[in-house]
Amino acid sequence: MAIELQWEIDMPEALGGLEALLNTVAEACFRTEGIEGAGFAVRIVDDAAIQALNREMRNIDRPTDVLSFPTVQFPAGKTARNCPKRLGREFDPYLGCVNLGDCVINLDRARQQAEEYGHSLTRELSYLTAHSAFHLMGYDHMNEEEKAVMREMEERALESVGITRDESAVSYDRLFQLACEAMQNSYSPYSHFKVGACILTADGRTYKGCNFENASYGATICAERCAASCAIAAGARRFVAIAVVGSTAVAWPCGICRQVLREFSDLSLPVIVGAYGKGYTVKTLGELLPESLSPEDLGVDTQNPN
Ligand code: THU
Repeated sequence: MAIELQWEIDMPEALGGLEALLNTVAEACFRTEGIEGAGFAVRIVDDAAIQALNREMRNIDRPTDVLSFPTVQFPAGKTARNCPKRLGREFDPYLGCVNLGDCVINLDRARQQAEEYGHSLTRELSYLTAHSAFHLMGYDHMNEEEKAVMREMEERALESVGITRDESAVSYDRLFQLACEAMQNSYSPYSHFKVGACILTADGRTYKGCNFENASYGATICAERCAASCAIAAGARRFVAIAVVGSTAVAWPCGICRQVLREFSDLSLPVIVGAYGKGYTVKTLGELLPESLSPEDLGVDTQNPN
């Protein structure tokens, strides 16, 4: 076994097969890296336990989704595959492999994230395990370059065992459904036109928004900009799809919203638009906003704005 699963909370019945799944994931990560004979512990904990660990070990007093505690240190810029001698020295005859350390997963947070991404809990746990596996093999994400390399390795490993986490992971149907949910919170006593939106960001997260009107009418915020505000406030800077729904008619995004979307998306952005209970059509942002003024036109890279 490449992993040893340790339940530090009660195991939910639905996760009975988790050890086999995470073992497959860990083996895929090792294969992708090009190493053999390694293993690590996967400890499943809750919000409170990971917060305590985060406080004790990193001086950060808040819960997080996953923490990795490597036992083998790799020199800067090197990962496990570059260090066969070091791995050889770390071989543990008792375990029959090199113990790379601990991956501690917060099940509470994994549940929340699975819900946000619109995918299963087991898939979220697979992703967190892969992420941690690469940390334990010397990868990090301190800057954009490192982050991209690490993400690519994770994706290659997961894809090799049929677990994909690409943009299409959240289907148009699902995004539209999330927009319909968001529409229920619309505050629209003046127009009585409820609008909901849901933005999918490049890291697979979804952010909902609804329109909220104002007695001055002009201070009204559209559902799309409400969703965009939530995404931006959460640190997202690249949108990869948006769904918009109107309660009684197709909610075509207004001109201001189209321009706001352009800031954080390219013209290929799929805009899924429809009316509640009547389905949707998909247009690209380029179709809705041709000849647009973009951040690049003013020399701004939205991924690295400073
Ligand atoms: N509205 C949106 O929220 N998004 C759109 O795509 C079009 C318009 C809202 C603003 C206002 O509350 C109501 O719909 C009527 O214009």
